[in-house]
This record gives sequence, C-alpha cells and structure tokens, in this order.
Amino acid sequence: MAAEIIDGKAFAADVRGRVAQHVAELKSVHDIVPGLAVVLVGEDPASQVYVRNKHAQTIEAGMESFEHRLPADTPQNELLDLIEQLNTDSRVHGILVQLPLPPHLNSELVINAIAPAKDVDGFHISNVGLLGTGQKSMVPCTPLGCLMLLRDRLGSLSGKDAVVIGRSNIVGKPMAQLLLRDSCTVTIAHSRTKDIEEVCRRADILIAAVGRPEMVTGEFVKPGATVIDVGINRIPAPEKGEGKMRLVGDCHFESCAEVAGAITPVPGGVGPMTIACLLANTLTACCRAHRLPEPEGLTA
Ligand code: GUN
Repeated sequence: MAAEIIDGKAFAADVRGRVAQHVAELKSVHDIVPGLAVVLVGEDPASQVYVRNKHAQTIEAGMESFEHRLPADTPQNELLDLIEQLNTDSRVHGILVQLPLPPHLNSELVINAIAPAKDVDGFHISNVGLLGTGQKSMVPCTPLGCLMLLRDRLGSLSGKDAVVIGRSNIVGKPMAQLLLRDSCTVTIAHSRTKDIEEVCRRADILIAAVGRPEMVTGEFVKPGATVIDVGINRIPAPEKGEGKMRLVGDCHFESCAEVAGAITPVPGGVGPMTIACLLANTLTACCRAHRLPEPEGLTA
C-alpha cells in the first residue's frame, strides 16, 4: 500500500478542540454561549444515533444543545411553528432538521422555513445561491469537512483537476462549488457519465460521494491522487459471523490505496468531520449574529 491514510478522526478532534477554545473565549469575554437546536421527527434508528452524537459533541464543545424530538405523525404546520419559534429564539444560533423526514412532510418547504443565518446545514435555497455566486454563506458540513482535509494535505488547491462523483444537493453539488471557489478545474461525474473510469483517472483530487459500496476501484485513480471517500455503506460481513455487517466506503480501499497518494478510510475519514463542521458552523453563525470576528480556519 502506497497511500498516506488521512486521519479524519484526529483532524475532527482537532477541529472540535479549536471550536471549544473559541466557545470558551466567547463565554468569558462576551458572556455569549452558542446554541444549536436539532429537530428529529420520527424514530429512524440511524437518525437517532446521529442526533445523540450531535448532542454529546455540542455539550462537549461548551455550547448549548436544544433537542426537539417529535412523533413521526407530526403535522407539517406543527413542525413549521417549531421552526418559527427557533428562528426567533436568541439563544439558538444554529438549527438543524434531521433528514430524512417522514414522507408526509415536505422537506424542501421545511428546510426553506429555517432562517438562512441559522441554517447550519447550508441547505436553505438562499445559502445554496450564495455559495453558487461566491458570497458568504453557511456551507454544508460534509463538503466543508472534505475541503478542510484537502487544504490541510495539499495547501493551495488552485489549478488542480478535481472530479466529484455524485451530484446530490447535500454533498456532490456543494463540494463542486467549493472546489471551484478554490480555483480547481471541476468535473461532476455521475451514473450517466461515459467512460467514468477515464474521467476519474484525470483527477488530482477525487471525491467519491455516490452511495454505492466500493464502486471506485484502483482503476479510477490517477497515481498520486488525493482520494476522499464520503460513502458510508453497511454491507454483509459473513466472515464476522451470521447476520453481521461492516462499514465500507464508496471506494474499494485496498486497490485505491495502492495507486493514490493519500486516501481517507471508512470509518475514520470524512465521517467524524461532519459533526465537527456542524459545531464550527454553529460557532460561525453565533459570531455573525453578534457581529464578532469569525473563527479563522473553521469556515470555507
Ligand atoms: N441526515 C444525514 N446526514 C445529514 C446532514 O448532514 N444533515 C441533516 N440535516 N440530516 C442528515
């Protein structure tokens, strides 16, 4: 194996430490405590795990955490009323509505009801537009985490060939916008892309965000490239025992690592960066709300 393994777990711990330090300063100098509200509708088991982790890490960073757990059959108007209440609550600087929402709720309407300045997911249409036009916005957490890892390893990204596999609103599209803003030459590849292996082999930076277990093999990777694996897929692991599962990324780790210069593992790569960046975004939103300088190195 040739590639350096990018330790997202350690990097995320460092980000959380820097956030906690800023939070402590805000408290002692300005008597301000950043607050994050997380709204969970229904009982989706994966969402419950995420929300529990978010709560614990928010508290650990010294912030206030407001959790709102609503039943799966909550009417849309009730959810919108709660968001309106959080929009006007001065203790709340960030609002996150955990996705996916139950099918009777209109996710777009709900997300667009969040005050853009408190939209720490960066999913509100205003933030999407601001990012696309190169203006100051809230940036989606997972792409922000990938960008931090890339800048840390590569320094300037200017002039690099970047290929993003996947065109989701949560990762692929905002990732491409961020790379473009850092002056990469950006290609978005997806399920209909012709000769996808060849397209990917041009990339100095390859971001895999398709949600297909181990789809990206060493054949997709240019020698020396930096590979960022955003996928988190659970697949059967009969070698661990009957009914057991294991986590894999969108990249086939062993074959990619033989060719790449550096690669993020799954687990322990991009995953831990997402919540760290959520905390960073909440701190940023709090600083902006109070017209204080933004923390350096924790924004896009
Ligand atoms: N569900 C899975 N990932 C995310 C995320 O980044 N934000 C929200 N709101 N829900 C999610």
